[in-house]
Amino acid sequence: MTEYETHDYDVIVIGAGGAGLRAAIEAKDRGLRTALICKSLLGKAHTVMAEGGVAAAMGNVYAEDSWQVHFRDTMRGGKMLNNWRMAQLHAMESPDRVQELEAWGALFDRTTDGRILQRDFGGHRYARLAHVGDRTGLELIRTLQQRAVAMDIDVFMECKILRLLSDADGVVSGAVGYWRATGEMVVFSARSTVIATGGAGKSWKYTSNSWECTGDGHAMSLWAGADLIDMECVQFHPTGMVWPLSVRGILVTEGVRGDGGVLRNSEGKRFMFEYVADMFRAETAESEEEADRWYEDHSAGRRPPELLPRDEVARAINTEVKSGRGTPHGGVFLDIASRRSAEVIRRRLPSMYHQFMELAGVDITHEPMEVGPTCHYIMGGVRVDAETAAATVPGLFVAGEAAGGMHGSNRLGGNSLSDLLVFGRRAGIGASDFATGRSGQVVPNQAEIDRTVDEALAPFTRDEGENPYQVHHDLQDTMQTLVGIIRTQSELDEALEKLDELTSRASRVAVGGGRSYNPGWNLATDLPAMLTVSRCVTLGARDRRESRGGHTREDFPNADPEFGKVNLVQRQPSGGGMDEEIKIGPEPIPEMPDELKALFEETH
Ligand code: FUM
Repeated sequence: MTEYETHDYDVIVIGAGGAGLRAAIEAKDRGLRTALICKSLLGKAHTVMAEGGVAAAMGNVYAEDSWQVHFRDTMRGGKMLNNWRMAQLHAMESPDRVQELEAWGALFDRTTDGRILQRDFGGHRYARLAHVGDRTGLELIRTLQQRAVAMDIDVFMECKILRLLSDADGVVSGAVGYWRATGEMVVFSARSTVIATGGAGKSWKYTSNSWECTGDGHAMSLWAGADLIDMECVQFHPTGMVWPLSVRGILVTEGVRGDGGVLRNSEGKRFMFEYVADMFRAETAESEEEADRWYEDHSAGRRPPELLPRDEVARAINTEVKSGRGTPHGGVFLDIASRRSAEVIRRRLPSMYHQFMELAGVDITHEPMEVGPTCHYIMGGVRVDAETAAATVPGLFVAGEAAGGMHGSNRLGGNSLSDLLVFGRRAGIGASDFATGRSGQVVPNQAEIDRTVDEALAPFTRDEGENPYQVHHDLQDTMQTLVGIIRTQSELDEALEKLDELTSRASRVAVGGGRSYNPGWNLATDLPAMLTVSRCVTLGARDRRESRGGHTREDFPNADPEFGKVNLVQRQPSGGGMDEEIKIGPEPIPEMPDELKALFEETH
């Protein structure tokens, strides 16, 4: 039996992006022995990629804004697949969470009379995103991190968690992983466990996600017996860099369009006017003049089509490029240079200015950017209770991108920062209450620990075997080409066959060297989660025979009202770990109460 270090806590939080930090702060504040565990260094999380702002109906720029309008925008953006109670709580609570963040020291840009400034983003009826330039996610992380450190929360960095552990009654009771620095194993036992591990974009070739986003929390929750919902709903942010190739996928904030940037094809045409879906026609400008009037004064004209929800804009760009009207490097042009002064661009979008100058040699105050869709976010995730963030297995709580439901089939920009504040806090409360109410000693299952450790170390024991980088490369190729923005039955079937092969190849990878900071081995231990999540996305995409939000089927191009009433739920019924077959099927979405339904009947 392998020797390993052990720790015992009331609450462990796995993942230290915004959701994890906020959950840990809440648990610690309630007096629980709390640990925050992250695969990377504290402060380095995908949260920083939500650059343009945090959405909250504070009404600082448009007094007419309210939680009801924010709720309605979020549901319409998600094409009504959202967990309506989550969307309601999110819209109601996000203003308080932003104020709280400010009280904890976060800096925001200001209105002329000193309130937090809010900017426009796609799908939001009013300027609603509290922001600091285009570095809002970074500011949010900085503030929460500072608070967590000041509260003396125990932080375990560079610790890769491999599996959740259960006790003899099937209650989640901690986790097992290893230190990246030494490769030594570590077991955390805990009265309750919060998953806040973020997204899964690293299974696609072009992604805004960094190396940490390998779907660990989604997969570990499934393996522990939790339900996943609507995994087919993956967001391709319309604007990632397309050139140079080495930086393809890096995010270009929606704030560029929120601040007046427009999209043009290779013929110079502002093509988004051609792509306005019926659902958004009444509120979208029909001409450039009308759209430009709106930028000057929101009460004149209607919204520019560049500010349609992300799924609409990403599909439009995809069509333009496929129709031969793309840029030399396979994107479209995003132009802010001809629309705003160099001073405004540098002040409002400092990171974008710097990013294009440094990485592409493009001065965005003089030239347009080349941009195209990039895998950014997964709306699907662990099914949770809206009030407590509890998953469907006891002892487990999930918040942020790893949780499903909040954003339906498509997330509005800015809603992830507010989501992780609202539900990070709720997960912290839920986990604390559960831990407090749990009696007896917590004893994680020894057989689970032993099996996990053996599997993790197996790549070192093979004399021959494939390189994990090759498997990862082929996985990204498969997901990018067969399970990308536009999907079709034959390609999804092919993807499932390829995933079978890749899973079998991943079980035979070999690595050399020692365990200390061994990136090949680290990747080998990430592959099981990446493959499981990729399979879930593909199974969902195969079974949702309609197009809705971030899931577009070429062979079922319309939304089907019957599919609009169900979540596609995936589970491994015996919580049997990654070798057990994944079951998938539709389950009804709870009915929305009449007072919320009435919000959709009001005219604008
Ligand atoms: O475009 C952006 O700044 C990203 C924001 C988000 O994903 O919420």
